[in-house]
Amino acid sequence: MNELKKLLIQAKIDFSTAVSISSLENAKSYYLGKNGKLTQYIKNIKNISINERKRYGEIINSIKINIKKELNIHRDILKKKQLKVSLKTNKIDITLPGRGKNKGGLHPIMRTLERIEKIFYSIGFDITDGPEIETDFNNFTALNSPKNHPARSMHDTFYIKNRYVSNNKPLLRTHTSPMQIRYSKINKPPIKVITSGRVYRIDSDSTHSPMFHQIEGLWIDKNISFSDLKGVYLNFIRVFFESDNIQIRFRPSYFPFTEPSAEIDIVFQDGPLKGNWLEISGAGQVNPKVLCNMNLDPEKYIGFAFGSGLERLTMLRYGINDLRLFYKGNINFLKQFT
Ligand code: DAH
Repeated sequence: MNELKKLLIQAKIDFSTAVSISSLENAKSYYLGKNGKLTQYIKNIKNISINERKRYGEIINSIKINIKKELNIHRDILKKKQLKVSLKTNKIDITLPGRGKNKGGLHPIMRTLERIEKIFYSIGFDITDGPEIETDFNNFTALNSPKNHPARSMHDTFYIKNRYVSNNKPLLRTHTSPMQIRYSKINKPPIKVITSGRVYRIDSDSTHSPMFHQIEGLWIDKNISFSDLKGVYLNFIRVFFESDNIQIRFRPSYFPFTEPSAEIDIVFQDGPLKGNWLEISGAGQVNPKVLCNMNLDPEKYIGFAFGSGLERLTMLRYGINDLRLFYKGNINFLKQFT
């Protein structure tokens, strides 16, 4: 019986010297665990003579109760100590001003887009958008891109593997021009529409990103000429940049879907970019072959189309010099536009 009393004393010492809750729990299992010291005494009860057994049981029970009591006392002490330490180290300064809620804002590219849509809507253009996953037919063939056109090579285009479709492969659209085909098939002339969105090309450096945005315009009617294109585009540029001191020029170029084709350049007559001609858009008169693919009679209808990069327009408007800033998610950069 003395042994049992010694056990209680030893337990008290062990519990009171435990430095953490986990070492206290270890000590607990040393005494009360499945193979713990006290448990062994309990198991031993069968070897005690019947006469002694009752007393032996009573003593063991009272030792067990006492060990548990000690355990609880020291558990409480350690918990309080732990709380004190954490209150000290994780101090909250309740006198600090509140952090407030951050206000969200439109991404600069979306600001440009909304601005452009407003401008064209105000002169009677419809606004639409289309899928980013396109067919080879809408992206190239219907737009009169010959099979050997470089834009078709694997180098520029992200194709999507599809073993069920071999001759009209799905791809990530390389431009917004396929919307010309989609829109013209379900709308009758006069067609006057702008469409915009993400486009994808295998290209990446300070002025190219594998994903970028375009805005596409299309106007088809019985009597639409290059002078309409010039009027519409010049109006757009002047309203967009809020300046009448801008000129535009058409430079001969090549696009399969327009004939003749042109690059549109702009020049500011004042400000930091004064005097530099800047390429801003592709454009042209819709190719008769494309009109046929729109199920329109090229003898009856004529029109123009243009496609401009939203990133470039945004960079010029705000004086941004690295395209990659648009996609980094840097809050300090984006905050400036809210
Ligand atoms: N799709 C052309 C490109 O991504 C841009 C373009 C040029 C669009 C001429 C047009 C156009 O509608 O007429 O480079």
